[in-house]
Amino acid sequence: MPKHVFIKTFGCQMNERDSEIIEQLLAQTGYITVSNQEDADLVILNTCSIRAKAEQKVFSLLGLLRKQKEKQPGLHIAVAGCVAQQEGQQIFKRMPHVDIVVGTQQIYQLPDMLFRLKSGETKREISCDLEKTFTIPPFQKLLANHNTTPPSPALSDYRKFVTIMQGCNNFCSYCVVPATRGREISRPVDDILEEVIMLVDKGIKEITLLGQNVNSYGCTNTVADQKTSFAGLLKMVARIPGVERLRFTSSNPQDLSEELMGCFKDFTNICPHFHLPAQSGSNAVLKRMQRKYTRELYLEKVNQLQSFCPEIAISTDMIVGFPGETDQDFQQTMDLLETVRFHGSFSFKYSDRPNTRSADFDDKVDEQVKGERLQCFQKRQDQISLERNRKFLGKTVEVMVENVVEDAVQARTGTNHIVHFTSSTRFIPGDTVQVTIIHAGKHSLNAEKITA
Ligand code: 5AD
Ligand code: SF4
Repeated sequence: MPKHVFIKTFGCQMNERDSEIIEQLLAQTGYITVSNQEDADLVILNTCSIRAKAEQKVFSLLGLLRKQKEKQPGLHIAVAGCVAQQEGQQIFKRMPHVDIVVGTQQIYQLPDMLFRLKSGETKREISCDLEKTFTIPPFQKLLANHNTTPPSPALSDYRKFVTIMQGCNNFCSYCVVPATRGREISRPVDDILEEVIMLVDKGIKEITLLGQNVNSYGCTNTVADQKTSFAGLLKMVARIPGVERLRFTSSNPQDLSEELMGCFKDFTNICPHFHLPAQSGSNAVLKRMQRKYTRELYLEKVNQLQSFCPEIAISTDMIVGFPGETDQDFQQTMDLLETVRFHGSFSFKYSDRPNTRSADFDDKVDEQVKGERLQCFQKRQDQISLERNRKFLGKTVEVMVENVVEDAVQARTGTNHIVHFTSSTRFIPGDTVQVTIIHAGKHSLNAEKITA
């Protein structure tokens, strides 16, 4: 009898990549992934704890799963990822129907944990240690040990994430990541290149290099023999034949080197999009956030980036209502938005996270004020995004197809803009098409196809 697993992923791209690894691992032990929770005999929640809201979602879904388990006693429930790492044993106390708790660096143990559980050897399984070395993606371990091949990517799989480092050493005062993902560890260069070459051989065209802080790749606690900077690594990946598009995330402004900026000029396959989290436009707030740059340095980096690559699209993350943020501080954030005119941004109301320094700050901002500031920021960002998107009108751009439903095609520009068009030609994800932009909205563009 085939076994069925339903995996729900919360949070960031790091988690999306981990969910893929979990899926691959379980496929090797006979699990088929299903898209409906009710059809599963194993439900895995790969969780995020970056903001209070993300964590609340996990616990409310676990509450619903309790009811499913009452009707379906054989159901196994696993909590993986950042909430698992953060809460550990507490999850069993709060949610006794959970069977497995597995932390961010132990996912490769899942098959063994499941085996022990199913054979009755144990009643519950937990593994939440943070390792001091890079946790090798398990399919590579299997490749090395047994010479087996990972499953080929599905047709729609034309892009993949490749993890280049784990953890974070920045200790921003609001951030839970150093606690949930541990200290920064860089993955060996050869491992990364080997994985990219394997993916390209399987037909993958777009690679995104992933890390919490990619600019400090190779600087701290690297297990690689050779010391390579992130820019050095990026160039090596960009030179691999078949890497048609190369992206990376996430970067911290203080470590952004000229060598890295130069890559945008020198390599046409490095996409002209830079996600550069600012978090606030006020130096006073940045200081209390323990961010290691000023507003002035941030603006200098933006100017430099634009001079290396004039067409580059810059996006950001912004937090409003950080403890002690005054109206004047918030105005500084609005002013940064007006100055940079970000192409897009992810903005959030500050929330307290466990074991972070800012959770103990006593000058918290009123929830209503936070809400008003968020609305104000997002409203202006939407206008700016629309104004910027209108600049595309009448222009011909190259897009890569993401998704096709009958004659409706969704594609993406190198600058990370979503483009919709209709076409009688049957495109498949990963195809490159020249299109002319005929309509601009705040979140996407519409086009007509010119050539395939
Ligand atoms: N409250 C609100 N937003 C946060 N982020 C990280 N921690 C918090 C917090 N405690 C935001 C930051 C980060 C993004 C992933 O989430 O903007 O860049
Ligand atoms: Fe969420 Fe951060 Fe964990 Fe990603 S690393 S899942 S954003 S808490």
